[in-house]
Amino acid sequence: MLRRRSITINRTIKQNYHNAKIKSESNYHAWIKLTLSALIPLMIAIFTIVTTILQQKLSTQQREQEKQDSLLLRQQTERQEDNLQKENIFATYLDDVSKLLLLENQTNSLIHIRMKTLSALRQLDPTRRKYLFLFLYESGLIYRYPEQPYVSLLKLIDADFNGIYFEGTIETKCSLIHLYLYGVYLSNSSFIHCYIDYSNFSSATMYKTLFLNTLVMRTSFKFTFLDQANFSNTKISDTTFKGASLIECDFTGARWKENDVDFINANLSGAMISDEQLRNSTLYNCILPNGTWGPIRTNNLVVNGDAEKNVSFNLVFCIC
Ligand SMILES: *[C@@H]1O[C@H](CO)[C@@H](O)[C@H](O)[C@H]1NC(C)=O
Ligand SMILES: *[C@@H]1O[C@H](CO)[C@@H](O)[C@H](O)[C@H]1NC(C)=O
Ligand SMILES: *[C@@H]1O[C@H](CO)[C@@H](O)[C@H](O)[C@H]1NC(C)=O
Ligand SMILES: *[C@@H]1O[C@H](CO)[C@@H](O)[C@H](O)[C@H]1NC(C)=O
Ligand SMILES: *[C@@H]1O[C@H](CO)[C@@H](O)[C@H](O)[C@H]1NC(C)=O
Ligand SMILES: *[C@@H]1O[C@H](CO)[C@@H](O)[C@H](O)[C@H]1NC(C)=O
Ligand SMILES: *[C@@H]1O[C@H](CO)[C@@H](O)[C@H](O)[C@H]1NC(C)=O
Ligand SMILES: *[C@@H]1O[C@H](CO)[C@@H](O)[C@H](O)[C@H]1NC(C)=O
Repeated sequence: MLRRRSITINRTIKQNYHNAKIKSESNYHAWIKLTLSALIPLMIAIFTIVTTILQQKLSTQQREQEKQDSLLLRQQTERQEDNLQKENIFATYLDDVSKLLLLENQTNSLIHIRMKTLSALRQLDPTRRKYLFLFLYESGLIYRYPEQPYVSLLKLIDADFNGIYFEGTIETKCSLIHLYLYGVYLSNSSFIHCYIDYSNFSSATMYKTLFLNTLVMRTSFKFTFLDQANFSNTKISDTTFKGASLIECDFTGARWKENDVDFINANLSGAMISDEQLRNSTLYNCILPNGTWGPIRTNNLVVNGDAEKNVSFNLVFCIC
């Protein structure tokens, strides 16, 4: 009886346990089902979001790429147009000036040529400026043979030749002689392995211009602005720098004979110039590299002989 009962109890417990197990299993299944059914939309949602983000990123990249491509294309087109425009300006200039050169009245045509030259130069790049320069040189307009009257020459005061570049070789120097370049702008220009003779750069503005390994003879740099110009390894003879501004000019390795170069009234402040070079130069009334005055001589005061341009620099010397 007792045993039976215990069995009964046992069975009941088992049954209960079994029921509970079934119940919990079915709960478990339901839960998994629920989770799964919730998970699938969630995964789809995540997938959608991730794909959307990726797509957006991709299309942003694409847009950036397209933007960049069109920018490059536009820049290229602009460059081509700009180049074409400059080519046209240059071609028109050559045509016009060639016609003007054939006219009878030279005085009249020189004024026209001057105007056309100033206007063309403003719009051209350094390479075409150089070819324009050579055109004027070979037409004899900026070439002054001895005793030639100045009125027969092209006045290029304020003409913009900045950045033009001449370079020869040791064997074949680039030869530029009898140049008449009074008052022009020639900053950032280069004359490398050149031969410059009988030339007139008076009152020109030539900041940072290079005269490297060049031969400069019988040339005038009167009242020329040559700040930070570089005359490295250049041979100079019979040349004047009267009243020139030569601040921080580099004369390293430059050579000239005794009394062959004069710096009268010039400003050599901060220039790189050796004591030997200074000894070989005429230095009256100039500012030496260290900022002190050279020997003062009142009878050596020069007035601006090339007085077409008002250069205030020479006013300083009135103090003596
Ligand atoms: C040339 O033109 C200038 C200015 O118009 C005039 O003064 C001069 O007389 C002209 N010369 C000749 C030779 O025609
Ligand atoms: C010369 O070149 C320098 C840079 O090397 C530039 O800053 C300056 O504007 C240029 N000057 C002229 C007149 O072209
Ligand atoms: C002048 O030119 C020479 C040769 O190119 C160079 O070595 C030197 O540094 C230049 N001087 C200055 C002040 O730039
Ligand atoms: C200075 O002049 C003397 C004699 O004219 C010459 O021998 C010497 O080479 C010159 N020095 C320089 C640095 O040019
Ligand atoms: C010479 O150049 C230096 C440096 O720029 C300047 O301070 C000085 O005033 C100049 N001297 C004269 C007399 O112009
Ligand atoms: C300045 O330089 C000159 C020439 O090199 C020299 O004779 C003079 O003694 C120097 N002056 C000073 C104050 O350094
Ligand atoms: C340079 O040209 C100017 C202006 O025409 C002139 O006054 C000067 O005498 C010339 N200098 C030389 C050395 O020929
Ligand atoms: C040159 O400049 C000075 C000072 O700025 C002025 O008094 C003088 O009249 C000018 N001279 C000419 C010829 O322009």
